[in-house]
Amino acid sequence: MELHLLIVSLMVCSTLGVPTRGRIFGGDPASPGQFPYIVALNNVDQFCDGSIINKNWILTAAHCLPDITSNTSVLVGTNIEHSGGTTYSISKAIAHEDYDSNTTQNDLGLIQIDGEFEFSDTVQAIEFGDPEENASCVAVGWGATEHVSFPEELQFVELRALSLEECQERVGDLDPFYLGPEQVCALGPEGKGVCFGDSGGPLVCGGKLAGVVSYSVSVLPAVTHNVRVIGGNTAQPGQFPFAVSIMMPSFGQNWCGGTIISKNSILTAAQCMNNLFPEDVVVVAGTVDLRTGGTVYNISQVTIHPTFNETNLIDDIAVVKVDGEFEISESVQIAEIGEVLDNDTCTVSGWGATENINAPASLMFANLRALSVEECDKLAEDGVFDVERGPGQVCGFGGRGNGVCYGDAGDSLTSKGKFVGIASYAVAQCAVGWPDIYTRVAYYKDWINTII
Ligand SMILES: *[C@@H]1O[C@H](CO)[C@@H](O)[C@H](O)[C@H]1NC(C)=O
Ligand SMILES: *[C@@H]1O[C@H](CO)[C@@H](O)[C@H](O)[C@H]1NC(C)=O
Ligand SMILES: *[C@@H]1O[C@H](CO)[C@@H](O)[C@H](O)[C@H]1NC(C)=O
Ligand SMILES: *[C@@H]1O[C@H](CO)[C@@H](O)[C@H](O)[C@H]1NC(C)=O
Ligand SMILES: *[C@@H]1O[C@H](CO)[C@@H](O)[C@H](O)[C@H]1NC(C)=O
Ligand SMILES: *[C@@H]1O[C@H](CO)[C@@H](O)[C@H](O)[C@H]1NC(C)=O
Repeated sequence: MELHLLIVSLMVCSTLGVPTRGRIFGGDPASPGQFPYIVALNNVDQFCDGSIINKNWILTAAHCLPDITSNTSVLVGTNIEHSGGTTYSISKAIAHEDYDSNTTQNDLGLIQIDGEFEFSDTVQAIEFGDPEENASCVAVGWGATEHVSFPEELQFVELRALSLEECQERVGDLDPFYLGPEQVCALGPEGKGVCFGDSGGPLVCGGKLAGVVSYSVSVLPAVTHNVRVIGGNTAQPGQFPFAVSIMMPSFGQNWCGGTIISKNSILTAAQCMNNLFPEDVVVVAGTVDLRTGGTVYNISQVTIHPTFNETNLIDDIAVVKVDGEFEISESVQIAEIGEVLDNDTCTVSGWGATENINAPASLMFANLRALSVEECDKLAEDGVFDVERGPGQVCGFGGRGNGVCYGDAGDSLTSKGKFVGIASYAVAQCAVGWPDIYTRVAYYKDWINTII
């Protein structure tokens, strides 16, 4: 028996090029009994999925197992997370003996339930199968959909199983994540906003269980909640006093970057605030370490650019007003908007993990060069995400292999002490010679002034 791990779906999801564990975005709701082998692993909320493989065993991802407690329940036989179905408790959980949590190699886990499943139309085991190259597959899970909150209904998305070669070509170096022949790489349809399946959930090809969702890589932007400035330097307190974090308190994580532009407003990327309830995030100003210090502000108003296009990320800019006023100090300052010229040296700053995707909360920065339109087009043309760009954008390039990546969406780009750009997206994955795209702030000055 060969079992593979679904690793990649290369489409719009939550990060730019950094592997994330995750969820289905842009899926369709499943009908009752359509996926009778799916199980939800629930603590207070659902945290992973799995598949029933016989009367009392479930297959999931090894990285789901550390979250299992004596209170974890297994929900089967329903499409709706908080209604119907049957729950079981867990008697045993075993990770693959060669599972490596650093690289995700052998990310498989088995869970034994107390007792036996009662099979029915909505509760069934699934057989293993090996997907053919380019097979049409589905990933199933209770993933997040439009906004951050998890949907109640089971979702599925159609994906294509890629050959290892095509996968490697598309994603490049995933270091430290492992990509090898015992994994399946699956790709979502372009533009559909498909992201990844829930961790531990099934990848089903031709009615057979072909994989377990392990991790995903996206090469497109959209709301980011993971790390960015890769291989940059750690900022000193007060070095970027205009940089704020838009944080999601419920996850304790940076969601996007932002830049203070007036006593009570910041600029960020439109993609950061689109499809998000303002009450789900807060603005944190005045610290270089999100775990300590800083002042937290609630959001009072969000204005997304009226012609923001979610598909090509033209006009990716939003003004966010906070409740109250920023208290100006050495570590909290209003940025001055400036112009950026071709070949100017710029600095992107933002909060992000570096090596470990779950890690730090430190403000990082990296230097890059603003490219001319011609140079940008030339470098971007082989990128995975090559769309037209306009005068409201500026292209930045950190160089190949030096480890510099782009910022989280919304992060500040500065040049000669002025605020010149908002991190928007990367043409392809990090640090392999493709440019990153920023919203050119000066281009939007009139629009900004009508709001602040
Ligand atoms: C399990 O739930 C009980 C009751 O809600 C709670 O007191 C206990 O701390 C929980 N145990 C774990 C390991 O989460
Ligand atoms: C994972 O990385 C950490 C930190 O570098 C190291 O201590 C640990 O031994 C590694 N684990 C494995 C399984 O290699
Ligand atoms: C799979 O699809 C790719 C891209 O469309 C194509 O190049 C390749 O030949 C296909 N492989 C098979 C076995 O059909
Ligand atoms: C933010 O809003 C929440 C809910 O309305 C409130 O409880 C909290 O005190 C507010 N925080 C600040 C810093 O104003
Ligand atoms: C958004 O961009 C896509 C891709 O370039 C384009 O097809 C679509 O028409 C644009 N939408 C609007 C409303 O302009
Ligand atoms: C920018 O740099 C490129 C590559 O080094 C060079 O070819 C070009 O002439 C420079 N442009 C300007 C305006 O300095």
